[in-house]
Amino acid sequence: MTHARDNFLAWLRAAHAMEEQAITTLSAQSRRIESYPDLKTRIVQHLRETEEHAQALTTLLDHFSATGGVSAIKDMAAKLTAKAQGVGGMLTSDEVVKGVMASYAFEHMEIASYRVLIAAADELDEMEAKAVFERILGEEIAMANWLEANLDAITRVFLMRDERDLMAKR
Ligand SMILES: [Fe+2]
Repeated sequence: MTHARDNFLAWLRAAHAMEEQAITTLSAQSRRIESYPDLKTRIVQHLRETEEHAQALTTLLDHFSATGGVSAIKDMAAKLTAKAQGVGGMLTSDEVVKGVMASYAFEHMEIASYRVLIAAADELDEMEAKAVFERILGEEIAMANWLEANLDAITRVFLMRDERDLMAKR
């Protein structure tokens, strides 16, 4: 039988690995995008936020003394997965559209993870941790909303540029 605290720590470690994965993906996207300046600016902004999220989760993991070999290995596996996905996405002729679709899905995975962590922290009466998760959740929702609001325009600009043989893919 597992206890609430074990589940909480497992979700916290998974969220940290997820943020590390996000840093790898967002870094690759921000380096490659050229023809979509608004998207590039927003990705760079969220990269800065994401680095701060990863740091905040590291602080929490240290606080709960939950760091160890297992989480380090899981983090590394997540990073390698992100690298593989990043490389895969770059081989497509529509990588900017694929990237925005993947980011939109990823932000919602993050939103779900933080909602779970908020509920667990509340159950465990860990109010400082809960406040950290709520602050991060707000930034994930803002990024998801931005992507939702811009998916239409990015797709149309991609199609227009592709049609005119302008650099469209990134
Ligand atoms: Fe995010």
